Amino acid sequence: MNRVLVIGSGGREHALAWRLSQSSTVEKTFVAPGNAGTALEPALENVVLEVSDFSAVIAFCQIQNIQLVVVGPEQPLVDGIVDALTAAGIACFGPTAQAAQLEGSKAFAKDFLNRHQIPTAAYAEFTEVAAANAYLADQQFPIVIKADGLAAGKGVVIAEDMTEAQAAVADMLADNKFGAAGSRIIIEEFLQGEEASYIVIADGENFISMATSQDHKARDDGDSGPNTGGMGAYSPAPVVTPKIDQQVADKVIQATLDGMLKDGMPFTGFLYAGLMIDDQGQAKVLEFNVRFGDPETQPIMLRLKSNLDQLCLAAIDKRLSEVDCQWDERFALGVVMAEAGYPFSYAKNNVINGLDTVASEVKVFHAGTTKKGDQVITSGGRVLCVCALDESLQQAQNKAYKAVKNINWGSEYYRSDIGFKAIKS
Ligand code: AMP
Ligand code: GLY
Repeated sequence: MNRVLVIGSGGREHALAWRLSQSSTVEKTFVAPGNAGTALEPALENVVLEVSDFSAVIAFCQIQNIQLVVVGPEQPLVDGIVDALTAAGIACFGPTAQAAQLEGSKAFAKDFLNRHQIPTAAYAEFTEVAAANAYLADQQFPIVIKADGLAAGKGVVIAEDMTEAQAAVADMLADNKFGAAGSRIIIEEFLQGEEASYIVIADGENFISMATSQDHKARDDGDSGPNTGGMGAYSPAPVVTPKIDQQVADKVIQATLDGMLKDGMPFTGFLYAGLMIDDQGQAKVLEFNVRFGDPETQPIMLRLKSNLDQLCLAAIDKRLSEVDCQWDERFALGVVMAEAGYPFSYAKNNVINGLDTVASEVKVFHAGTTKKGDQVITSGGRVLCVCALDESLQQAQNKAYKAVKNINWGSEYYRSDIGFKAIKS
């Protein structure tokens, strides 16, 4: 029986830990630091750990006899948590710091994609304002400006005209709006089409696709308003047809794993390709994430039937080709409830009401929540992801929104149309 530690504190980590704790081969699941949702989950235990202090994480794993560490967010991966724990003899699921550059540096990812002829938008890379502006003079609009490094999903600007583009360049390169993450930028062709997330579990050579899903990155209904970390997601996503699935599996995912292996940095972990699929059905890579998506994880974990710890351990041991993965055939949909104002400034410490009204077939994953005595209070921009599973996407949507309407804290905000593209088609 395995003892497992999940690193992170968001909705993704709540969902991963919840699923891990239900595995027939897991005895105990810890979450560091976790949130109110993981604290309230009888099968989970939150631990106070400074996760950026890898020696503290190693010491905890040794004392608690942990057999598997699953890392939720990108920052510790980019900082080398897998390298440090592996060196200490602890099985830690995720990419090495070298391989995590696929997310940690957009310039690295674009260069990698081009070198290995994996489809992506045309681009150029800059560190100087003058050179970037000179390049912009010959481009068409809209155009996309991206900070090279990690910027918590905020380092991407879609500029409609020259004024906006030059302002984004100045913000990043001259005014250091994103700190070191923006000291290098990518200017990229704007792609049209429908977005999809394609997430796999990889062992360096082979992979297993997770269920398909689609995220809603824009804050407001109809995919309008500012870009966020994600306001909701559902699975499966019909935009990923069997034909697109095959194309992405071969030309994007396998090509990426082959390329990383060839470049001497085999990729183990969850690999997430953010894709734009054009009206001809051709997929191009918008970005890589070297971890599971948030909120995609939440509906996907509702559908996963296999033991997640066994999948992660098989990947670490390079045995993925020997295992398979079972999914619930039903539809899962998750609605993010956020604090009004997110993704900019927002209130905190509001008491959440109605969590006890939720029907048993609805699952509420917590993100920005904290326990205060017997109350659960808001402590982040994205607060909850209310998920439901049902025979159709429409039924899952109805069920999730019914639960959402009974949860409130005064300044809650959510989109009312999660899943609309798939339900319309
Ligand atoms: P990224 O973090 O690179 O995925 O970018 C965040 C969001 O910006 C994506 O989910 C897309 O909605 C949008 N985006 C990024 N790159 C492009 C592009 N080249 N063309 C159109 N939209 C893009
Ligand atoms: N939902 C998008 C992400 O996890 O980056």
